[in-house]
Amino acid sequence: MPIIRKKLIAGNWKMNKTAGEGVTLAKEIVDAIGRETAVDAVLCPPFTALESVAHVLEGQAVKLGAQNMHPEKNGAYTGEVSAEMLRTLYVTHVILGHSERRTYFGETDAFINKKVLAALANELKPILCIGETLAEREGGSTLAVVQRQLEGALAGVKPEQLTSVVIAYEPVWAIGTGKVATTAQAQEVHAFIRELLTKLYGAPLAQKIRILYGGSMKPSNAPELLAQKDIDGGLIGGASLEAKSFVELVKAAMAVS
Ligand code: 13P
Repeated sequence: MPIIRKKLIAGNWKMNKTAGEGVTLAKEIVDAIGRETAVDAVLCPPFTALESVAHVLEGQAVKLGAQNMHPEKNGAYTGEVSAEMLRTLYVTHVILGHSERRTYFGETDAFINKKVLAALANELKPILCIGETLAEREGGSTLAVVQRQLEGALAGVKPEQLTSVVIAYEPVWAIGTGKVATTAQAQEVHAFIRELLTKLYGAPLAQKIRILYGGSMKPSNAPELLAQKDIDGGLIGGASLEAKSFVELVKAAMAVS
């Protein structure tokens, strides 16, 4: 029997939406797909909107994610937020290792690994982002970069924890640029990631892990991407900031489920 991986569409709002604007957007999304269970949907607002969006999502199938967290439990880390703090706001998912955090905030694979382990220890599901820059792709090191990032971030993750991890392949050159990876380019890397997971954890587990694509995904290109064998959903930036396009993306995922 083939393993069915439920598609997941996550909206990374990045540094957009005040709490009030977030509530409006979340309400519009919930009105359209709040009871949808054939596809998992996750909204990831900025920290300041988490609590108000959590109220909108109460009792709905749509889940709440944060965009980052600090690995320590508490302490003198000015400006940071812990896993436990997120948990008390009904957050279930957390984006970790996004390329914007790697680039602008100097996050390393080792630091991201600490966050992944801390998230899992606190029953938060990491949405772990990996992906190459344009220079790395053009230099022919895409697969080596992805392998280094994946192995680095998953060090010490136990097999029984892996099912809580979602991987997001986001080629940096496709983020916010309108330049989407071709379906063949995306599928090639997704298949490679699944192969790596198979080597690390064995096929039965690797087949269960969802690998999302991220980078200029929108309703017009989603159906083809989502139809690929190893593409299990999307991590959406720009197109998640309007209810219409986000809902269309969830529906595109339903259509191939
Ligand atoms: P865009 O969809 O705006 O390209 O952003 C993708 C992304 O970085 C999601 O995390």
